[in-house]
Amino acid sequence: MRIAITGHRGQLGRALQQILQGETLLGVDLPESDITDPSYIIPTLMEFRPDVVIHTAAWTDVDGAEKNPDGAFRSNAWGTQNIALACQRTSAAMVYISTNEVFDGRQSVPYREYDRPNPSGVYARSKWAGEELTRSLLQRWYIVRASWIYHRGGNNFVTTILASADRLGSLRVVADEVATPTYAPDLAAAIARLIPTEHFGLYHFPNAGSSSRYDYARRVLALAGRGHVPVEPITLADWPRPVPPPPYSVLVNTCGALLGITLRPWEEALAAYFADA
Ligand SMILES: NC(=O)c1ccc[n+]([C@@H]2O[C@H](COP(=O)([O-])OP(=O)(O)OC[C@H]3O[C@@H](n4cnc5c(N)ncnc54)[C@H](OP(=O)(O)O)[C@@H]3O)[C@@H](O)[C@H]2O)c1
Repeated sequence: MRIAITGHRGQLGRALQQILQGETLLGVDLPESDITDPSYIIPTLMEFRPDVVIHTAAWTDVDGAEKNPDGAFRSNAWGTQNIALACQRTSAAMVYISTNEVFDGRQSVPYREYDRPNPSGVYARSKWAGEELTRSLLQRWYIVRASWIYHRGGNNFVTTILASADRLGSLRVVADEVATPTYAPDLAAAIARLIPTEHFGLYHFPNAGSSSRYDYARRVLALAGRGHVPVEPITLADWPRPVPPPPYSVLVNTCGALLGITLRPWEEALAAYFADA
């Protein structure tokens, strides 16, 4: 299969390259390839003639998006529109990676694929706009939502917690924000299994289960041999951010499971991340 991966140097992009290494791949990433430049990206993809484009490239700085909404919408909405138009012109299927943040987090049970999003911050609204553009411009689309993605070499919660523990000697971590850590190689493996099904539609592919940021941090520290570092549980109100994140945004994989595609529990995946080191 001929597969283009946007954002191939990012966390998920690298995991996808690894799992899809037997396929014919094209990587698209900054600085040399910019998805927001249609005069460059559309002909580039048309020349490659992909069967599938896996579109992971995005503005992922959630707090920074509040300061630069034009930049966030340019990457996440306009950039996605360009990728979808390239897919339209090459008859390629498209996989758009979206986020738990499209939900407002007021629910107290896990969000199914069929639950109604209500994005609030700039990042969430720009990713939702990308979903809507994908759905409206194409027929052969997959939208795959995940949460709290981490991978070796990435900027993520795991690396932030370990760096902060080493720098500060103790931590304060939010205990009332709940979602699910997702190990990029597990998400990539699920996407690799989804593509050949041609069962287009919306999927939730986090690792299984859920956790507060506080419990996640404690498990990271324990697995990294820093279980002695004191961690104080605090609330979202104690840790002001430009836009408060959804307090509860656990995604449940109901549609993928009906195809036999499931991800292991997040605790097992996190242990594998440290074992793979
Ligand atoms: N990280 C999470 O916790 C999380 C959770 C749920 C969903 N998601 C979604 O999952 C996807 C993958 O996330 P990730 O954590 O793998 O992201 P990542 O590590 O930040 O990688 C994104 C990649 O896209 C590139 N990129 C950004 N703007 C671009 C542009 N205009 N043209 C070409 N490439 C561009 C980035 O380059 P630079 O580094 O040079 O900017 C980076 O290499 C994203 O769509 C994200 O919205 C992420």
